[in-house]
Amino acid sequence: MQIREVKHPLIQHKLGLMREAEISTKRFRELAREVSALLTYEATADLALETVTIQGWAGDIQVQQIKGKKITVVPILRAGLGMMDGVLEHMPSAKVSVVGIYRDEETLQPVSYFEKLVSQIDERLALVVDPMLATGGSMIATLDLLKKKGCKNIKVLVLVAAPEGLAALEQAHPDIELYTAAIDERLNEHGYIMPGLGDAGDKIFGTK
Ligand code: URA
Repeated sequence: MQIREVKHPLIQHKLGLMREAEISTKRFRELAREVSALLTYEATADLALETVTIQGWAGDIQVQQIKGKKITVVPILRAGLGMMDGVLEHMPSAKVSVVGIYRDEETLQPVSYFEKLVSQIDERLALVVDPMLATGGSMIATLDLLKKKGCKNIKVLVLVAAPEGLAALEQAHPDIELYTAAIDERLNEHGYIMPGLGDAGDKIFGTK
């Protein structure tokens, strides 16, 4: 698995602001969107281009366009929705495929309870977004699902990753690329990333 911890100063600065204990819902949301947009810029740097001819102001001209069936953004409910607008900022026409995963209390296994995927997802680049890669369970289940639907080109964008989640993801899906603003120290006994951001879903939605 290719892991990119993106050290761009803007990303590091904004992520630092997100770690502030008393941050407001509004500010956390804004920063989640901004960091997601910057991660998207990095994650799309290798998109293939093709030359097309258009009619320019002074006649026909050759320009570059992104090649192929384009992209679907895949937010994992619910916290992944907090990254969606940031991704769409750079790709406003991208289609969105939503996945909901919960963890069964007894088996502790991730279970899909909602999926609404775009057509021809197997021909698209899937940009899967979830702010916190903790144990990696939901992410692994989402990638299992996407691959079952034929997705071959998958990139994962998270704001903060735990080493435990990265190791699990690497084991389950060694072929994907992951972009993160930070690799933090560890998971605590409650499954929170340390130092992390706290509960990212609560902070994005203003719940407690
Ligand atoms: N989910 C969160 O929102 N925060 C964590 O630290 C881990 C999982």
